[in-house]
Amino acid sequence: MKKVLVGVLMAAMAVSLVGFGAKPADAADVKTVEAGKLHMATNAAFPPYEMTTDDGGYEGIDVEIATEIAKKLGLELVVDDMDFSSVITVVQTGKSDIAMAGLTVTDERKKNVDFTDSYATGIQSIIVPEGSDIATADDLADHMIGTQEGTTGFFYCTDDFGEEFVLSYPNGATAVQNLLAGKVDAVVIDNAPAQAFVEANDGLVLLDTEYVTEDYAIGVSKDNPDLCAAVNGALKDLIKDGTVAKIVEKYIPVE
Ligand code: ARG
Repeated sequence: MKKVLVGVLMAAMAVSLVGFGAKPADAADVKTVEAGKLHMATNAAFPPYEMTTDDGGYEGIDVEIATEIAKKLGLELVVDDMDFSSVITVVQTGKSDIAMAGLTVTDERKKNVDFTDSYATGIQSIIVPEGSDIATADDLADHMIGTQEGTTGFFYCTDDFGEEFVLSYPNGATAVQNLLAGKVDAVVIDNAPAQAFVEANDGLVLLDTEYVTEDYAIGVSKDNPDLCAAVNGALKDLIKDGTVAKIVEKYIPVE
């Protein structure tokens, strides 16, 4: 009799396991801007975190991690590409679900969005032309500095060196073009894109100095704490099972 009962219970469990298989295990019934979709606000000019592909798609560390998060939540990822300075606003105003853009956690931004756990470290780095007299962050004083608008690099530089010495451009690539054209003496930008820009252009050097170290995380609307919890839960799982590390290493191989 007991054995029969155990058998019945096991059969019932097997059925419910099959039931779970239909939907991803972590799928939560969260509300998103568009049903069935997870909209990611980003600025896809920030290699290797987000960039466009030749066929008009998107790739990069953030895009791949977000794709995995969406999958876990039973959603399809949609990339909303825009100016970096808009990524938090569109999440705040309910036009995108998450801001994921190599986005640094700051106290100021915490007033506007909730952040998940951090999934990567960013370092504000300095690019100069070959032969420059700038060798450290302190040397930036009294020089013209190029930055990407709305970024932490812009805020640190204006605080430390004065607004009159800082120019901001719509994206990092434009800042670097202006460095090559001699319009600015240095560019301050996150280390991973800095490396990509230096590799793609002759005559530039990435200084071996860390101006500021920061944490990247995903911003979610304060009005949707369930979504933030679900996204963070999925992210935690992806960190734990090594998926995040694998994606990062695909784009930033460890030497
Ligand atoms: N980490 C910097 C910040 O949060 C720059 C991020 C720029 N990201 C981008 N996708 N363009 O301010």
